[in-house]
Amino acid sequence: MGAGSRGVLGVVGTAADGVEKLRTGLVEPAVALGWQVAVTLTPTAGRWLRADGELDRLESLTGLPVRDTPRLPSEPRPHPVADCHVVAPASADYVAKLATGIADNQALTQVGEAIGTIGVPVVLFPGVNAAHARHPAWSGHIAALRAAGVRLVYGPHVWPLLEPREGPADRELPWQAVLAELPGGAPA
Ligand SMILES: Cc1cc2nc3c(=O)[nH]c(=O)nc-3n(C[C@H](O)[C@H](O)[C@H](O)COP(=O)(O)O)c2cc1C
Repeated sequence: MGAGSRGVLGVVGTAADGVEKLRTGLVEPAVALGWQVAVTLTPTAGRWLRADGELDRLESLTGLPVRDTPRLPSEPRPHPVADCHVVAPASADYVAKLATGIADNQALTQVGEAIGTIGVPVVLFPGVNAAHARHPAWSGHIAALRAAGVRLVYGPHVWPLLEPREGPADRELPWQAVLAELPGGAPA
């Protein structure tokens, strides 16, 4: 697949509920909007999506390998440089690591670097519950990401926080709100 008319969108999925819909909820609509999409998963999300065949479907759709491990130094970069990154859903674990600068997997490395790169937007949807958000470190993580300019899709208007195991396992993620935060937005 050639470069999209909007540029290259780095899509990151983590091991949180709803990541199994990454293709239909986010990647297909982004491609339709004109993005060239390059998908990266955390190692755990990679295991989940490989197990249900979604990883192969994402590769067919994007024409690029799905990354869930870092390359060897001797290997070429498998993805083009992204003009924008979007993390959806971001687990509580991923948010904590990103906010504190931890970069111990490919999905964290590229977004952490983008946060420190001038002119590269980062959109992030925390796929968390009320218990995650009551952790004493949580508000600091959110504040740190906001201060860094990360466009957070977060708050009761987009994702009311439910107690653990309160919502349905297949609760729809706010994909439309995520797409609307991309440069150029998305039709409502
Ligand atoms: C079935 C299942 C669903 C989960 N859903 C969530 C979730 O919605 N949000 C979250 O923050 N963690 C969730 N977790 C916990 C994360 O998977 C766990 O913290 C994991 O270490 C995150 O890895 P990652 O951040 O590297 O993707 C879930 C775990 C399982 C097994």
